Amino acid sequence: RKSVVRITTGSQALDELLGGGIETLCITEAFGEFRSGKTQLAHTLCVSTQLPIHMHGGNGKVAYIDTEGTFRPERIVPIAERFGMDANAVLDNIIYARAYTYEHQYNLLLGLAAKMAEEPFRLLIVDSVIALFRVDFSGRGELAERQQKLAQMLSRLTKIAEEFNVAVYITNQVIADPGGGMFITDPKKPAGGHVLAHAATIRLMLRKGKGEQRVCKIFDAPNLPEGEAVFQVTSGGVTD
Ligand code: GTP
Ligand code: MG
Repeated sequence: RKSVVRITTGSQALDELLGGGIETLCITEAFGEFRSGKTQLAHTLCVSTQLPIHMHGGNGKVAYIDTEGTFRPERIVPIAERFGMDANAVLDNIIYARAYTYEHQYNLLLGLAAKMAEEPFRLLIVDSVIALFRVDFSGRGELAERQQKLAQMLSRLTKIAEEFNVAVYITNQVIADPGGGMFITDPKKPAGGHVLAHAATIRLMLRKGKGEQRVCKIFDAPNLPEGEAVFQVTSGGVTD
């Protein structure tokens, strides 16, 4: 039986909320409005995953699937320096791929699984998991097919998490929820419906605070108490 590894987010408050950090063997989803910190957390995890275990890292490599073209290798440099690591070595251990269609995204996962069988990976990022599905199945009447393909992709991600003891970190978009009534109390919800809700073990809702502050709320997680943590996004990545 594989034992779970918890990878630091760079913020002690956020780590505590998560029971120690982002977990291997399952999918952690972050959703929230634009600039809420989803991609910056991904960049920070790219570095912290490579820290040794005794420094709350995962002592492993990182795979990054980017569907929005927002990965910035130059952002990795100050984050690596902040953790006292060699930036070039850190960059060498991030396997990066840009996906252009949902099928491409799925095929990249198959290739990565083969790589993970040979080298020690501890984190797989898909930023964002749903954007290409929303583009490729944008027509009316395509929702059922989209959800079926999305379920396939998510089941592949779960398999990878369990087979290779990897943490899977996915980002998701929020969509307007007009609701049924006149008064909208919570107009935003995560995209992906029941399929995504079922696949993601830990669902985090991010929002902007003042300045560099961001707030993370546990939206759904079977083993975590409800709560919030405040963290910052700085040039050195996610921090307290
Ligand atoms: P979308 O992908 O647009 O939905 O947003 P996101 O949630 O992925 O946001 P992202 O993580 O890209 O956050 C972007 C924000 O992070 C920027 O608006 C800045 O506020 C902050 N940020 C990014 N890089 C730096 C940096 O080098 N220094 C500081 N202080 N803040 C940064
Ligand atoms: Mg982003």
